[in-house]
Amino acid sequence: MQTSLSKNSIEIIKSTAEYITSRDTDITQAMYKILFSKYPNVQILFANAPKNQYMRLAEILSAYAVNIEKIDRLRPALFVIAKRHVEVGIKPVHYPMIGMVLMQAIEETLQNQATIEFMDAWREAFQVIANILIEMERELYEKEEN
Ligand code: HEM
Repeated sequence: MQTSLSKNSIEIIKSTAEYITSRDTDITQAMYKILFSKYPNVQILFANAPKNQYMRLAEILSAYAVNIEKIDRLRPALFVIAKRHVEVGIKPVHYPMIGMVLMQAIEETLQNQATIEFMDAWREAFQVIANILIEMERELYEKEEN
């Protein structure tokens, strides 16, 4: 399971971090719009989410872009997210759907800044952060069972 990024992707994300940080809330707002129109059933999972859920996602997205060389720094923040995910019942099967709509939102928001290389790097970056969260959540679910 891939939990760190290739050098090439790190370089691309590092040199374009500003594309993400300057548009982070636009990207995450677009993401939820796409998510709920494509997968209306998922909305129920967000029944208790605050109105500014998109801002919380934007915060971690930008933090990830900026800290892409040192993602271990994000572990405490990711652990908080994993705990919340376990409370609402997020499972590994949910991740590909979120990955797809996030990529679509990034592409639609950034338009020609979202080159093929940029998108490939972010696809890999999403997989890495998803794998870290899935592993944390697996351990938390296991603890719940015992
Ligand atoms: C890399 C992937 C993901 C990231 C970075 C992420 C990020 C976040 C963040 C920052 C929060 C707020 C945590 C807090 O309460 O402080 C959150 C909560 C939540 N996430 Fe995710 N998430 C990811 C994947 C998913 C997936 C796959 C789903 C499935 C649909 C999902 C659904 C939710 C839900 C339902 C909440 C709880 C909202 C609430 O009631 O407060 N997330 N996530």
